[in-house]
Amino acid sequence: MEKTYLMIKPEMVKAGKQGEIIEFIQKNGFVITNMRQFRFDAERAGEFYGVHREKPFFKDLVQYITSGDVVGLRLEKDNAIKLVRELVGTTDPAQASPGTIRYMYGASLQTNAVHASDSPESVEKELAIVFPED
Ligand code: CMP
Repeated sequence: MEKTYLMIKPEMVKAGKQGEIIEFIQKNGFVITNMRQFRFDAERAGEFYGVHREKPFFKDLVQYITSGDVVGLRLEKDNAIKLVRELVGTTDPAQASPGTIRYMYGASLQTNAVHASDSPESVEKELAIVFPED
């Protein structure tokens, strides 16, 4: 089994959609091995999204991701990193395929419903930030 990290973003938690999204993930065969609802402070958010620090949207991204609670999930499944990204869909919901989470729930490039780790290195980094006790 491979592990990965998925995060339900603030606009989805505010809208009460976290339950639907979690159920959808479970129905697609991912096992939840840890889960936590929390709110980022700006420093942790900056660390989490450190690869985007030089991007023009970085400041807005930190402001958005700290605007309310998120739900972080540690998931396990064979080939989990690739498969969860397929289930999530493209960054821009307008380009996402039907059946993906961002097609169903995403509203814009920024408010795209969920985040999924994109490599084994980002899985390790992101899990260590969200679940430091593990
Ligand atoms: P995520 O998969 O969490 O990774 C980085 C996030 O930055 C991305 O989803 C979007 O929420 C946001 N993002 C990426 N590109 C842009 C952009 N061009 N403008 C605004 N936000 C963006």
